[in-house]
Amino acid sequence: MKTCTITFLPYKKDIVVNDGENLIRAAMEAGIHINASCGGEGVCGRCRICVEQGTVEDGLSERLSKEDIEKGYRLACKSIIRSDVVIRIPVESSVDASVLNLASPRKKVSIEEMDISTLKESGKFLPPVEKRLLTVSEPSHEDNSSDASRVIQGLREQYNEHRLEFEMPVLQKLPDVLRENDFQSTVTIVRPVRDGHKNHIIHMAAGNHVAQNYAIAIDIGTTTVYAEVLNTETGEILASYGDFNGQISYGEDVISRIVFSEKGDGAKKLQSVVVNTINKIIEKIIHRSKVDIQDISMITIAANTSMTQLFLGINPRYVRRAPYVPATMFYPPCKAVHLGLNVADHAIALMYPCVSSYVGGDIVAGVMGSGMYNTDELTLFIDMGTNAEIVIGNKEWLTCAACSAGPAFEGGGVEHGMRASKGAIEDFSIDPITFEPMILTIGNIRPKGICGSGLLTMLAVLF
Ligand code: FES
Repeated sequence: MKTCTITFLPYKKDIVVNDGENLIRAAMEAGIHINASCGGEGVCGRCRICVEQGTVEDGLSERLSKEDIEKGYRLACKSIIRSDVVIRIPVESSVDASVLNLASPRKKVSIEEMDISTLKESGKFLPPVEKRLLTVSEPSHEDNSSDASRVIQGLREQYNEHRLEFEMPVLQKLPDVLRENDFQSTVTIVRPVRDGHKNHIIHMAAGNHVAQNYAIAIDIGTTTVYAEVLNTETGEILASYGDFNGQISYGEDVISRIVFSEKGDGAKKLQSVVVNTINKIIEKIIHRSKVDIQDISMITIAANTSMTQLFLGINPRYVRRAPYVPATMFYPPCKAVHLGLNVADHAIALMYPCVSSYVGGDIVAGVMGSGMYNTDELTLFIDMGTNAEIVIGNKEWLTCAACSAGPAFEGGGVEHGMRASKGAIEDFSIDPITFEPMILTIGNIRPKGICGSGLLTMLAVLF
């Protein structure tokens, strides 16, 4: 079969594809991002590219002006490759992750600034993983009970721990671990997330590692993924990092992702892409925090219902079809490595439960973290993302609504709308004397479009 070479600029990346390949699919396969709000359906006009050398078949659309077409602009999702071509991806069709990790102008209140014991008592910060330093007596002819019995008995006597169960990998190493440091070891215990279940011993290490008890909290957003490394004893945040969810190349909103997941091996692709994004972020925060990956015992993951299902490899197709039912509201804990995460074998992954198809674990995490479910006064909590949710209530009742905010915040359906990346108008004012309008762009460069904060500010100022 005839093959063609595509050169992507400005990345100077060459790929070889079969004659007749769709350009946006070729870019996806090569790991090159081109905005695709509608998931390649040809309706959003976001996947503009410029053909600098050679020609592509088709690629035309009423979304492109006559001048654009003359300059070589085409829609990537409608372009078919028939010969060698050089394609330039303009800024408005690409992503700029540098803005995601800019320092916030507002002060972030971290847990360590609050009273940790009060937070633990109130249940607002109560990690279900604990490390216990345990010393047991050496076996003798008079006391030849098993190693496992010694550990269970020791934990009962020294820490009043009950209903304990070993995991098999711990038992496989137990005899050596106990004897490595004169029968002193650190036992990692996971509390059950639901009543009636047992406490699991997920890890044991020789010596004292009680102070090294860390967790990773991950928020999988439709557009961005953000994670932090936390010390579960003190609540201290040791490192954080965010990046675009690699799935955005396959559709910018939840619905386009579900549509993509229904095509061929789309669901598998989306799962591996988001796992990849998470692993890259984990690598970054582990490096920044200088924590040993073996000391990460727990990963918590919050995401909207569709993102959760796609991450777990659960078919989300019924989330978008009446009567809109998710596969499940609760997800059992599992080993993080079984989800493809690059962490220690014993680390457990806990997913926040969802409430319905469009009220997911992300807003549940917000309600839990803010403690609003436990107060007398009314609280309004807003989670503004590509999919936005609003909850109002107190300890008596809570009610929630959700809608898509992506069009406002990522430019979907707005002629010059764009994400908050360099060149996006983010602020607007009017000189009170001359009435001269003024704009500020991210990166203080020539404007390329307008992002959500620009749109809202402009509306407010004009009003
Ligand atoms: S028009 Fe090409 S991805 Fe939407």
